[in-house]
Order: sequence, then structure tokens, then C-alpha cells
Amino acid sequence: MIKKPYILDIFYDLYINIKLFYILKKAIELKIFDILSEPKTFDEILIKINLDKNILEYILKILLELKLIEKIRGKYKNTLVSDLYLRENSEFSIIPYLEDEYFNDIENWKDFKEKRLNFTKVIHKMANECKVWELPRIMEYIRLRFKNEIKNAKKLLDLAGGHGLYAIYFSKLNKNLKCYVFDLPEVIEETRKYIEKYKAKNIELIKGNFWKDSIGENYDIIFSSYHPGGKNPEIIRKVYDALNIGGLFINKQFFWDGEEDLEFYVNNIDWLMRKSDILRKSPIRFTFEGDLSFNDYLDYLENLGFEILDIVDLKEFLELKCYRGSKMIISKKVE
Ligand SMILES: C[S@@+](CC[C@H](N)C(=O)[O-])C[C@H]1O[C@@H](n2cnc3c(N)ncnc32)[C@H](O)[C@@H]1O
Repeated sequence: MIKKPYILDIFYDLYINIKLFYILKKAIELKIFDILSEPKTFDEILIKINLDKNILEYILKILLELKLIEKIRGKYKNTLVSDLYLRENSEFSIIPYLEDEYFNDIENWKDFKEKRLNFTKVIHKMANECKVWELPRIMEYIRLRFKNEIKNAKKLLDLAGGHGLYAIYFSKLNKNLKCYVFDLPEVIEETRKYIEKYKAKNIELIKGNFWKDSIGENYDIIFSSYHPGGKNPEIIRKVYDALNIGGLFINKQFFWDGEEDLEFYVNNIDWLMRKSDILRKSPIRFTFEGDLSFNDYLDYLENLGFEILDIVDLKEFLELKCYRGSKMIISKKVE
């Protein structure tokens, strides 16, 4: 018997989404969001954009439906969100991040081309991503929750800090706090550029490999975010040893929530396509051989002598599903 070919709908739905992706990419390339920083009529937009009139009209309808623009009294204009994030010259533009993470990357996906994971590049992408939302929200949380600890701290480490933006933020919260960014030698050269750009004082850079080298000692706060040692018992032990009693360990990491679905499989393929000679990757995104599961991580902290103060689910806290699985665990060395 002939069955309904539901495969046609699978492809149809997927292809619509792929086309929507390219329509948004095109809208950014056409600088529609720069043009619509001020209200414009359709004809005023058409003069600036060399595109078929009917196609432009549909693109504007799509942008309206996605709430990236609005139409008031016959004129189109950016919504607040696109005005902040999708204008090229906005201080908060996420275009460099989108170009890196999506627009360039999609080319590799066309033929499943493997990519080389290169930390000196990754950290710029991460800086562009975190600075608009994750970093200010996280730092505001930490600032309010640990006011006294930050005020009294003398020495802080941003372990595998990459761009160093978190250390830079901490350094501005307490001028007497000496902040250190530890990272691989080639990455530290890039960190330096951010220190200069944001005119950060009281920051020192430490070149090293946390698997082999000392990460320093007598820290009052160790901050650590999305690095390959963040769930590894050996590195957590190093963190414990390097902290003073009463010191805080703030660790932001991805822990798989155990749910297997299409998003999970696709992200894991993406992860495996990004090859690295130095990382011992596991088949699950952002995880490595020897990593602890979430519950084992918490037990390990407590057995070492940490008290767990906060567990923040970053998907909930940042209200964005792309942070699914990310958690910030804040613990205090008590013994
Ligand atoms: C994904 S990035 C995270 C950067 C930054 N902490 C953030 O959250 O945006 C991972 C960082 O870990 C650093 N890293 C990886 N392996 C390392 C190692 N063995 N020793 C020191 N740093 C390392 C990388 O150079 C990179 O800066």
C-alpha cells in the first residue's frame, strides 16, 4: 500500500527555516536595521535598497512578524531590540558574533566540512557574544549577591579567562582588587588587547597551561567560565588549593541536562566537527574526557571542603534557550 510521504513535510519545514535564516542574513547585509534606525516609508527604504519591490515588501512583512521592526503611521522603524543589537554601529551590535557563529559557519555545514578549533579566534567570538547580555547580567548578579566579598577581596583569578572581560568587570568593581587572567600563552596576547581597549587597571596576565602549570595561590575569588577544565576533578582540586579559606569559586559551565532531542544531536555533531589536537572531547557538546556529571560535580565540591551557595540555571536566568544546560555554581571554601 502507498503511504503518505510525510518526508515531504519534513523537508518543506526545514527548508522554510533555512530560507528564513538567509532572509535575515540578507536583511543584515542590506543594512536594513541601520536604515530603519529612523522611521521610513516603504518608498524611502526602496530608494536605499536595490531589491525587487515585491521581495522587499515581503522581507519587511517577515521582519514585522519576527518583531524586529514595527510599522507606525505608515512608517517602518526598528524595534528596541533590533536597534540595540542589529545596527552595525551600535555599541551592542551582535553582528560580528552572528557573522562568526552562523553566517561563516553555515558554509562548513553545506558539505560537513571539519573546522579547526582555534582559541585565539574563539575568544573574540565569545567576547562579542557575552558582552551584550550574559556578562552584564551575570556580573550584576554577582555584584549584588557578593557585595562584601568583592569589597574585601584582594586577589582574583579569571581562570582560562580568554578575552578577560569578566576580570575587567571585577577590576572596575573594586579598585583595590588585583585581578589575574590565566590562559594559554598565544591567547594571552589577545587578552592584552581587551585590557587596553577597556583601559583596565590592576590586571595582570599569566601565561600557562592549567593541566601542567601552577595557577597561583592565595586568591579570594576564582572565576571560571566555559573552559575545558571546568568540570574536571584535577582542575577543581587546583582551584581549591589556590583559594584562601572563605574564598569564592564561581564556575559557569555547560552540564548536559540528560534530555536527548533533535537540538541535542545537532549541537553534538557541530561540536564534533570542530576538531582540536589539544582537547580530549567527549561526544557531548562542551564536555571532555574525565568530566564530572552535574551531581558528581556538586558532591566533589562538598567533599573537597566547599559549601555550595548558589546554583543558577542560566537558561532560566538569562531567559534565552541558547543557554540551555549552562549553569553557574557558586561555592565557598569552608575548610
Ligand atoms: C571557550 S573559551 C572561554 C573564554 C572565557 N572564559 C569565556 O567564558 O568567555 C575557553 C578558554 O579556555 C582556555 N584554555 C583552554 N585550555 C586551556 C589550558 N590548558 N590552560 C589554560 N587555558 C586554557 C582557552 O584558551 C580559552 O580562552
